[in-house]
Amino acid sequence: MALYMKAAEILEKSEKKQGALKTLVYDSKFPNIKQLFALVCETQKFSSILEEIIESTKLLKQTKLKMPLAKVLVYDLLMGQGLKCGGSWKAAMLKHRARLQAVLARMKVKQKVSKNEDLLPKNTKQPVQLPRYVRVNTLKTTVDDVVDYLKRDGLSYLGHASRMEDLTLKEKEFLRDMHLPELLVFSPRTDFHEHFLYKSGHIILQDKASCLPAYLLDPPAGSHVIDACAAPGNKSSHLAAIMKNKGRLFAFDLDAKRLTTMSTLLLRAGITCQQLANQDFLKVDPKNPQYKDVEYMLLDPSCSGSGMACLPHEESCDDQEEVRARLASLASFQLRCLNHGLSFPRLKRLVYSTCSIHSQENEQVVAACLQQNPGFRLVSLLPQWPERGQEPLTQCLRASIQKTRTHGFFVALFEKLSSAATKDQKPAMQTSPPSGGETRPEDPGESEASEVEEAVVPAAEEAATAPGKKKRKRKRKRKTKEAA
Ligand SMILES: C[S@@+](CC[C@H](N)C(=O)[O-])C[C@H]1O[C@@H](n2cnc3c(N)ncnc32)[C@H](O)[C@@H]1O
Repeated sequence: MALYMKAAEILEKSEKKQGALKTLVYDSKFPNIKQLFALVCETQKFSSILEEIIESTKLLKQTKLKMPLAKVLVYDLLMGQGLKCGGSWKAAMLKHRARLQAVLARMKVKQKVSKNEDLLPKNTKQPVQLPRYVRVNTLKTTVDDVVDYLKRDGLSYLGHASRMEDLTLKEKEFLRDMHLPELLVFSPRTDFHEHFLYKSGHIILQDKASCLPAYLLDPPAGSHVIDACAAPGNKSSHLAAIMKNKGRLFAFDLDAKRLTTMSTLLLRAGITCQQLANQDFLKVDPKNPQYKDVEYMLLDPSCSGSGMACLPHEESCDDQEEVRARLASLASFQLRCLNHGLSFPRLKRLVYSTCSIHSQENEQVVAACLQQNPGFRLVSLLPQWPERGQEPLTQCLRASIQKTRTHGFFVALFEKLSSAATKDQKPAMQTSPPSGGETRPEDPGESEASEVEEAVVPAAEEAATAPGKKKRKRKRKRKTKEAA
């Protein structure tokens, strides 16, 4: 219910030009931003067709619904994943379903098309079809067991992917990803939301790019780790799996609602090593004895979300000045978070990520941070990954629909230099820090990658044998090409 009410409210405001769709969604503080995005974007795309169906069935008169709410309900009923509400709305919609379906079918016959998409005007941007990525939760099961289960379920297993092109799959086909050991790849429309493996926390639905940060940070079992901006917890759940649920995972988030969602997610995934706090990370005291052993940190702060495939691009926003100001404010917040993270006394490694495609939030923030923290350097990541950070920060990774078949994403890994090396360390970059106000942005975007899903681990290899220091070192070398 809440989802449909919120989506209808946003559609109405967007139609009245009371704000950009993306901003309205972000500002809604809805707990599942990704789900809301998808519904609003799709409903808006089919808006004129939905309106025609609603008018020709006289649905508003018969149900007393308002047009925006009717549109989102009809969209989900006829074109989406089915109604996710109960009560009187569901009853009313189901009562009219046959008539609504009949009108849609007539429209298709008239236009001689078979798919809903083909009803759209020719110049409408087609939705991006990304593969469905599934991370196996190694705290509960193994990749082999999940593969066997799904094969018995009637899916066709194609083995290991070896090239990007392999990730284009037909319905019912699946394979193992070539970069991330616990990741399975399915065709875009595969839906696991009602699947036993998902509901029992054996698998986690998470975009491939969003699995990179925890995988690359790779904290050992027993370590103390901070997830600075953690909710709804996809990357935290991944970290906990890598840590084998041993050690301590301090997770902070400002948003209480999102933390509640996170608790449910972690519970379902069988995670117990976490300590959640509804707290501003910037106000967490690095000298607090609680954090004296923290050596690893994941920082996935609020960002513009410009890498999210379903979102309209900022170029389409009427007020470019507003877009620029928002980016500057986000970059300033991200840099403050980074500087704060690096100030924890025993910190060895910090992974920074965004689901933004803007260099202002990515390379520029990282460059400014390196300049202000000469005791840290960048680790060169996954040499086999096809898309690098923009020059000169090619140690970092980027991800995109075109090159990696994922949402747009950015990852950088900071590592503390030994004290001997620190003496000679020069500022890594001569770039100016991102400008903008010092205030925290109101409610910037959340990964989708986050909500979109959940996380991956290098733990599969380790699961078979007890992790030893040597083994871990070897493994880390494969993921990162140490900077010279
Ligand atoms: C990109 S999302 C994090 C997604 C998460 N890492 C995941 O993978 O599920 C950013 C989060 O940062 C939180 N946040 C924003 N400012 C914060 C602050 N100052 N301290 C802690 N959390 C903050 C937001 O509430 C939001 O949940």
